[in-house]
Amino acid sequence: MSDEKSLKKPPRPSGQVGIKALQGMIRRKSVIGALEALHTEMGAIFRLPMPGFNPVMLVGAEANRLIATEWKDHLQWRMPNEPITILLHEGVLVTDGERHDTIRNPMHKPIMHRAMLQSYVDAMLHSTDLVMNTWQPATAYNMLDEMRKIALYVLTSTLFDTDFTPDIERLWAGIIRAVRYISPNLWVLWRGFSHMGYNRELKKVDAYLYDLIAQKRQKSAQGTDLIGSLIDMGWDDRLIRDQLVTMLIAGHDTSTASLAWSLYFLGKYPQVQQKAYDEIQSVLGDNPLGFDHLSQLPYLSAVIDEALRLYPPIHLGSRVATQDLQFGHYRIKKGERILYSIYLSHRDPAYWKNPTEFYPDRFLGEDKPASNSYHYLPFGKGSRNCIGLAFAGVETKVVLAQLLCKYRFELVRDDVRPYMGATLEPAPHVLMRVHGRK
Ligand code: HEM
Repeated sequence: MSDEKSLKKPPRPSGQVGIKALQGMIRRKSVIGALEALHTEMGAIFRLPMPGFNPVMLVGAEANRLIATEWKDHLQWRMPNEPITILLHEGVLVTDGERHDTIRNPMHKPIMHRAMLQSYVDAMLHSTDLVMNTWQPATAYNMLDEMRKIALYVLTSTLFDTDFTPDIERLWAGIIRAVRYISPNLWVLWRGFSHMGYNRELKKVDAYLYDLIAQKRQKSAQGTDLIGSLIDMGWDDRLIRDQLVTMLIAGHDTSTASLAWSLYFLGKYPQVQQKAYDEIQSVLGDNPLGFDHLSQLPYLSAVIDEALRLYPPIHLGSRVATQDLQFGHYRIKKGERILYSIYLSHRDPAYWKNPTEFYPDRFLGEDKPASNSYHYLPFGKGSRNCIGLAFAGVETKVVLAQLLCKYRFELVRDDVRPYMGATLEPAPHVLMRVHGRK
């Protein structure tokens, strides 16, 4: 423990390091390249020199552990004037302290319980079929869009217990708008932008959610889905809407990115795709996929885990210190913004052999990260980790297994780079053609 007075301020990059960051960004065609360069040059703690924002970036297992556990009660998740708070209002993702726990606890059952997850498998298969049955062999599809459709159908047919097919076209623009609205953009530099852009399309999504709640209230038996469970809690429409919009956005955009990155790697490495397909075939034979098969697909799981390692959809966590904190020899002052980088931790050579290489087998052998380690955390860690962790685990396996059973995927153009939107997306597209298996 250093003497309080000897603690230093988090270091700022020098001009020379700034130039390296710029070069990294140009080389990677992504802001993520600048973060990589800054981490290489400056280590586990540095300040991002962004006017009006100036967050302290923390990287590595120890930083992740402190944020997820020890510092938990000294951190605030979101500030009131950020777009994500304006959109989600009192959603579980943006509330703090006891209020957060009161909101999160009733959602455990419909989102996390094994029996519920088991009951969702048919809806997940059906959602996948709805989209993949429209594909034609000669056409190249942007799998980011296709996976978004599947993820939206999955989420609405399970947690909302509703058929989204009549509404998807009408609400597509609003959903994309919501995703763009909460992405890091000009509001980071000037908070005035936060209130701009909450437009007509977003209000259509709100109207849809309020309508779903009203319909559900009219039914005498409300059911075990998320909406029914929250009505049973006696919550008002606004508080329920806040949770539904949270799940709709947080619960589909992340799975979309995870599925699209996994497909990208399956297309880029045909031998990996073949191995995953062979595993699925050997487990299923001619039987339809069921919940009990999922634990028998370790290679497919490893492919998903490795894609999540290289491109974690939530690549940054954001917090604000509510008291002074000490990290090594540095002091982070009360009120400062802290970002923790899941992406950089997942590529840290201190924990990973050949960190930039796509190598699913690392999740099968003894190098597999232990569940109590803090260098692999695609779903966050601690009591505020992802509430949809188990849901997403079932969803991504079911969807990919169903897709691979029916089609071989060919990557048409490998010009993909990571784009920092609301999630870390493959951009400008994951262009693929599909070839029927039988
Ligand atoms: C592959 C898919 C997913 C990934 C990679 C992912 C990742 C994450 C991460 C890293 C966090 C913590 C963020 C932080 O520390 O600031 C988080 C939180 C959260 N996720 Fe997910 N997520 C996924 C799927 C889902 C799904 C399917 C749902 C809903 C069904 C969901 C709902 C949430 C919510 C509500 C929170 C906030 C929890 C809280 O603050 O108590 N996520 N997610």
